[in-house]
Amino acid sequence: MKQIEFKKRRKHLMQRIGKGNIALIGSASTRARNRDVDYPFRQDSDFYYLTGFNEPNALAVFIPDREQGEYLLFCREFDEKKALWEGAHAGLEGATEHFEADDAFPIDDLNDILPGLLENKTKVFYPMGRDSELDHSLLEWINHIRSQSRTGVVAPGELVSLEHILHEMRLFKSAAELKLMRRAAEVSAAAHVAAMQKCKAGLYEYQIEAELLYHFAQNGLRAVAYPSIVAAGKNACTLHYTENADKLKSGDLLLIDAGAECDHYAADITRTFPISGRFSEPQKQLYQLVLDAQSAALEQIKPGTPWNQAHDASVEVLTKGLVELGLLKGKVKKLIKDEKYKQFYMHRIGHWLGMDVHDVGDYKISQEWRLLEQGMVLTVEPGLYIPVDCKTVDAKWRGIGIRIEDDVLVTAQGHEVLTSAVPKTVEDIEALMQVH
Ligand code: GLY
Ligand code: MN
Ligand code: MN
Repeated sequence: MKQIEFKKRRKHLMQRIGKGNIALIGSASTRARNRDVDYPFRQDSDFYYLTGFNEPNALAVFIPDREQGEYLLFCREFDEKKALWEGAHAGLEGATEHFEADDAFPIDDLNDILPGLLENKTKVFYPMGRDSELDHSLLEWINHIRSQSRTGVVAPGELVSLEHILHEMRLFKSAAELKLMRRAAEVSAAAHVAAMQKCKAGLYEYQIEAELLYHFAQNGLRAVAYPSIVAAGKNACTLHYTENADKLKSGDLLLIDAGAECDHYAADITRTFPISGRFSEPQKQLYQLVLDAQSAALEQIKPGTPWNQAHDASVEVLTKGLVELGLLKGKVKKLIKDEKYKQFYMHRIGHWLGMDVHDVGDYKISQEWRLLEQGMVLTVEPGLYIPVDCKTVDAKWRGIGIRIEDDVLVTAQGHEVLTSAVPKTVEDIEALMQVH
């Protein structure tokens, strides 16, 4: 992502904050795994969205119309020894030169400098309640200013959630963001195809996971957007199954939910296919039903449609199909009203997708489902999960879990599926798996 993109975002944010106010946002922290070893660092998405700065121990400050500079970055000073052990870091010079901060200060001087910046500001925008250290420090800084009120300085009187402004910005993807999302989608799709080709009975779920990771990294995307789910047979009925430790058995389905991250933007794809390469009759019937539900949901994705409409379309198709196949008994309308489908379809149709896999942005505005608009990206992922011990259905259905998930951009006219390169019809899946 080019600096100009981050600059545009900061400019937009400054306008929304308004003169006389200030915004603060901290970076993610490192987290110790054990002695001298940290968990892989992933920058806070909000912080990265505004700064492009990929280091821990940093805090960005935005002060619209401040003459000496509007954008200040507190970060680690350059330290040669640290650079030797832990690799490059920008230092104060890098913060201004490469990351275009108007000024940069050592993070260790935060407590000395921040109160001065907060003086006489009306509102402080910040991610309230997300980082207890920042919450605590902010109140200390404000108290510090209050204690000096006799000198004429005024402490800010309003603390406002920064997320509200920021997440509305993040919900609408720019051309530069879509470029990264398309790349994440393309690489993830190719990895799913490779995993289908690799799949055979006798392998372990983690070996299929390794295939996905191999393809992500070979294509330049080393990070996953979330832990991959590789779930054979009944494991697919556990929605967030990540043990990935069982052996693949011929006759079972394999559900793979996996996506790579491209410069902090996620892909999120699920495919379900037969380990043997051929669907059994019951598997095929349930699979086709989920696919039909996905098609019905996708048809709803266009500007002006309320968010919930795609979900409702999927519920209708699935409930009707479950009655036809005999898994539910009764009138479709009543089964929907009584939410009887929820025993087999217990999640919603999807979620916003962006820097976070379950991305930010409100789903309702003033308690009404919001309307889809051009530039939003979401997943469409209906599923059916028949518990292995479900006594109310014929034994042939039990232990089958199916989800089909694509990433979808709302366009001016309708939508574009970003992940269509992975086969999903019964014929296409079987054809791909026969060749290999
Ligand atoms: N991979 C998580 C989800 O599909 O929502
Ligand atoms: Mn998803
Ligand atoms: Mn997923």
